[in-house]
Amino acid sequence: MLDHEQVAIHAGRRSRLPVIVAVHSTALGPAAGGLRLWHYPDWRDGLTDALRLSAAMTSKFAVAGLPIGGGKAVVALPEGMELDADRRRDVLRDVADVIASLSGVYATGPDVGTSPADMAVIGETTPHVFCKPTDLGGSGDSSPHTAQGALAALRAVSRRLHGTSSLGGRSLAVIGLGRVGVGLARLLAAEGAVLTVTDIDLDKQKISDELGAVWRSPDEILAADVDIVVPAALGSVLTSRTAADLRCRAVVGPANNQLATPDVADLLYQRDIIWVPDYVASAGGVINAISAELHRVSADEARARVRAIEDTVDDLLDTAQRCGQTPAQAASELARRRLSATSPAKHRF
Ligand code: PHE
Repeated sequence: MLDHEQVAIHAGRRSRLPVIVAVHSTALGPAAGGLRLWHYPDWRDGLTDALRLSAAMTSKFAVAGLPIGGGKAVVALPEGMELDADRRRDVLRDVADVIASLSGVYATGPDVGTSPADMAVIGETTPHVFCKPTDLGGSGDSSPHTAQGALAALRAVSRRLHGTSSLGGRSLAVIGLGRVGVGLARLLAAEGAVLTVTDIDLDKQKISDELGAVWRSPDEILAADVDIVVPAALGSVLTSRTAADLRCRAVVGPANNQLATPDVADLLYQRDIIWVPDYVASAGGVINAISAELHRVSADEARARVRAIEDTVDDLLDTAQRCGQTPAQAASELARRRLSATSPAKHRF
């Protein structure tokens, strides 16, 4: 069974690269989700990623209480392919053509491998794009807001574990120092957290030093002896094997699709490790972009909505405890309830 409403796969007219747009659900509203420009062993792996990521976007918006559906775009680059500026432009224009052909059912935004400057290129062809640079009328980089949202989720968990939402003095292991990971690590360091960090890019050790953090290799960090592990890079870090190695009390971070398979959430629960679903902890970026660009609320109000992730996580952890469920079950039930309360309608931006 295909869970998705539609999946468009095109060979880019200019780039010949596979452009995939997966629209999972428009039950709550027109679909949004970022554009991932990333390397995959086979383009079909990019399709699998697009299917999973777009489904997660549906849950992300539903739990965040936004009237938006879930989608995602992926351009699957062959391993080792580097794009020069011209070729990158071609790829982005190919993506823009596919988005335009969907007539407002789907709008894109930045994700792994893409930036506000890329959104500006897409915006030359179609209005269905979030997070263009602010001087072009967009809300700009979403990553600081994603980092703030993840911090809000961490506060709720810290209150559970330590009775205070402050992260000062807490030990955290941040996996991945990309735009969101670095932003979050800086916020945590500023609050006096004790940081262990890693990245696949060894050059990031400079940032680690700057933050006064301890550097660990990517395969060691999951077993670090810390309060909270914070996945902030690519997905599938939590497998049955890594779940058994964890020594932390919680896993909470902004990376999408952290679980290799859904049952890992149960393994974590059995080990008494709190896992906040990734689609809850990572919602800050989209909450800010949608609030600012679609709902046209003030920057203060958008910030308050991002900070409200703390209350959402609080409520989910309460519900989970009361009902003897994992937070993952509580979140997916909440999403399901909100999705089933809608009448089928064709939504467009
Ligand atoms: N990368 C964002 C996410 O996964 C996608 C996004 C950001 C989409 C901003 C729209 C606007 O949530």
